[in-house]
Amino acid sequence: MTMWTPDLRQRSGPRYIAIAEALAEDAGGGRLRPGTRLPTHRDLADRLGVTVGTVTRAYAEAIRRGLVTGEVGRGTFVRARARPAAAVAAGPEAGLIDLSANLPPAAAVKQEAATLARTLAALSRRKDLGRLLAYPPEGGAREHRAAGAEWIRRGGFATTVERVLVTSGSQHGMTAVFAGLFAPGDVIATEALTYPGMKTLAGLLALRLQGVAMDEHGLRPDAFAAACRARRPKALYCVPTLQNPTTAVMPASRRQEIAAIARDHGVLIVEDDVHGRLLARPRAPLSTFAPDNSVYVTGTSKVLAPGLRVGFTVAPPALSPRIAAAIRGTTWMAAPLMAEIASRWIQDGTAETILARKRKEAAARYRIARKALERFAIQGHPEAYHLWLALPKPWRAESYVAIRTSSDAGWPDWPRFSPAVPKRRSRPDPSGGRPLPPGRERGRRRRRGAPPPRSRVSGQGPVGAGLQALRVAVGSIASLPSITLPTLPSFPITNVTRLA
Ligand SMILES: Cc1ncc(COP(=O)(O)O)c(C=O)c1O
Repeated sequence: MTMWTPDLRQRSGPRYIAIAEALAEDAGGGRLRPGTRLPTHRDLADRLGVTVGTVTRAYAEAIRRGLVTGEVGRGTFVRARARPAAAVAAGPEAGLIDLSANLPPAAAVKQEAATLARTLAALSRRKDLGRLLAYPPEGGAREHRAAGAEWIRRGGFATTVERVLVTSGSQHGMTAVFAGLFAPGDVIATEALTYPGMKTLAGLLALRLQGVAMDEHGLRPDAFAAACRARRPKALYCVPTLQNPTTAVMPASRRQEIAAIARDHGVLIVEDDVHGRLLARPRAPLSTFAPDNSVYVTGTSKVLAPGLRVGFTVAPPALSPRIAAAIRGTTWMAAPLMAEIASRWIQDGTAETILARKRKEAAARYRIARKALERFAIQGHPEAYHLWLALPKPWRAESYVAIRTSSDAGWPDWPRFSPAVPKRRSRPDPSGGRPLPPGRERGRRRRRGAPPPRSRVSGQGPVGAGLQALRVAVGSIASLPSITLPTLPSFPITNVTRLA
């Protein structure tokens, strides 16, 4: 902990603002380095001759400004300076690998660009090209829906063209499903650790997420049944294959069990199978066990290319019109040109070639990560892009990211995955507690001066710059145990994220 004592003599106005501003200046000027633990409220209050409440307000203001983070029971830490918005928009800096997001490897990007060029050339010769400039029928052009059905069938779920809706990616499919079928305040059960995009969506739509306990095989049936009884969720949002973030793959028997519980409690399953096709031997999706009580969402991002923005949603006929209406209300339709490219690739075998390359790359990266992280508790899968790393004590994701981030290094300062519902200290089992609507939860935390919700892990899918660069990046994580918290401020944070 630092002995930081700001000089407030030249500062006018409310004392808590003066402290927050001094903090901003010292963090900006490098006097307070990222990861530095600030004095306790009482300690700083005593040294400045102000009340503890003033320091509490000052730290709360600093949290609001993104200068520090607070962890209940652990203290207040200086955050790394965020990159300027323009720099973030420009993408990762040269020589850096962004390990914060679950991105498909782009190792063969040249090959894939060449494939795209050929596809576009072939398309340009088509006499009916203008068709792609028109509004397609609701749910997408029939041939695009047929390609979606075929793609999904190859993943182990035999469905019909009529049930498939074309979306602008999986996230959009989820948006259409949750916006079309649910109302603000509805409870949605999900794995206790869930895909952050679902949390964002729940926030946007004011849905209440109910985390359900998991084990190494994913969602636990007993906890799901308990949550159904206690909370009466309207739906279960679930990623049964290569779960994000834990990589768990749910066994068939458990899928059957979950489907039966959902049916018995009248809970609609929303299955996110965005990673399903990464498995060379696909698992029958959860939806195959409850085709009339589930909505299945997938896309081409993880297996072909995220920039295509094409997804497919399979819904029972009774629910389709409401989802289709939400597609209309959000993007009107998936862009036909993109759907055409994805459909061609699915139908002419290109998709399988790209997919095979991605699997190979994922396996190579997994081997590197496993070796580099062998001393750590990791949960991974050779066909996944991401893995779950339990940080050794006393690290938290936040303090790890703070120390690995320098003001110009460009690492995101907040891991992009987290518990479905932020853990409160008193909550026993995520499946048993009462979730708050997002607004109330935020309000309560603000009133308590509590820090933002935190996540427990670090390190997601590698991207881009090749296996050697990945080795370096993972190696930087592997050096963790040699660092202990008291030495954080002096740890040389330069270069750790710069790759040779
Ligand atoms: C579990 C999960 N679902 C959905 C998505 C979003 O995929 P898309 O790019 O198809 O919108 C992601 C992306 O990381 C994901 O991990």
